[in-house]
Amino acid sequence: MRGKRVGIIGVGKVGATCAYILAMNGASHEVILRSSSNPDKAKGLALDMSQAVQAAQVHTVVKHAQNASDLQDCDVVVIAAGSPRLPGMNRDDLLLINAEMTKKVVQEIKLYSPNAIIVPVSNPLDAMVYVALMETGWDRNRVIGMAGILDSARMAHFVYEQLGYGAGQIRCSVMGGHGDDMVPLPQFSTVAGVPLTDLLTWEEIDNVVDRTKKGGAEIVSLLKEGSAYYAPAKGTSLMVEAILSDTKQIYPCAVMLDGEYGYSDIVSGVPVMLGANGAEKIIETTLNKEQAKKFEKSVNSVRELVTALHSKGFYS
Ligand code: 2OP
Repeated sequence: MRGKRVGIIGVGKVGATCAYILAMNGASHEVILRSSSNPDKAKGLALDMSQAVQAAQVHTVVKHAQNASDLQDCDVVVIAAGSPRLPGMNRDDLLLINAEMTKKVVQEIKLYSPNAIIVPVSNPLDAMVYVALMETGWDRNRVIGMAGILDSARMAHFVYEQLGYGAGQIRCSVMGGHGDDMVPLPQFSTVAGVPLTDLLTWEEIDNVVDRTKKGGAEIVSLLKEGSAYYAPAKGTSLMVEAILSDTKQIYPCAVMLDGEYGYSDIVSGVPVMLGANGAEKIIETTLNKEQAKKFEKSVNSVRELVTALHSKGFYS
């Protein structure tokens, strides 16, 4: 039996950082980097990471794929290619550019890694998961977008900033699409098991919610030449590890809904149990009226993007 193989398409900061995390923690036996626009960069990064794993005395082999066919028989393929957000852009501005890119790479994945699980990371995330599902025609458990882990981690950070204690013990929950209408859920968030609502005032919680929603934009405006990458890469690597090791852990992920929460034929972020078969179970938690309304708004925003793709004749 061969070891696990992860393909990373796109070697910008998110793709490269995710590859580095996976290489260093040995979760995958092979990590293969692919950039169709800049194969030399993929080659250089693969060399650099290969040397890092030797230094760390880890067994992971890091390679690059010169051609699409070199990305063969992967167990998981991360799509981190595409344009990042720049200052003044929101995630939706990237819709058509990144939809074209997703369409192209998904064809390659279908051809050379027909049994893979795909983890899209490019924005606008939920719409890209939708595109990948349409283009593959695969079952929904095999295409799972990364965003909820990132948004929940951001919320945990802002809780920490507000509280000044509890780092590492903060569990936050964010559902909905990875956009301006995401749904941070303070009632589902805790610090060492203590409900957040017992630790912060509602004014403080509203501040945490607001900063979470704007968390990506805050980093874009500071970096000035791209968007966040450490937390997105860490979130992605956690999903990949859960799939490779069949851990059955629950993470918030972007999946196609099929009746869950009352929605169908749309992608949104919900709690998902991850295992060897990808999204093995979609967890339905009870939302109160206000939460359900916010979730609906977020679902509708993603639907607008998908409708825009349809009306631009994007689907063949
Ligand atoms: C982020 O939230 C750009 O979606 C990316 O940082």
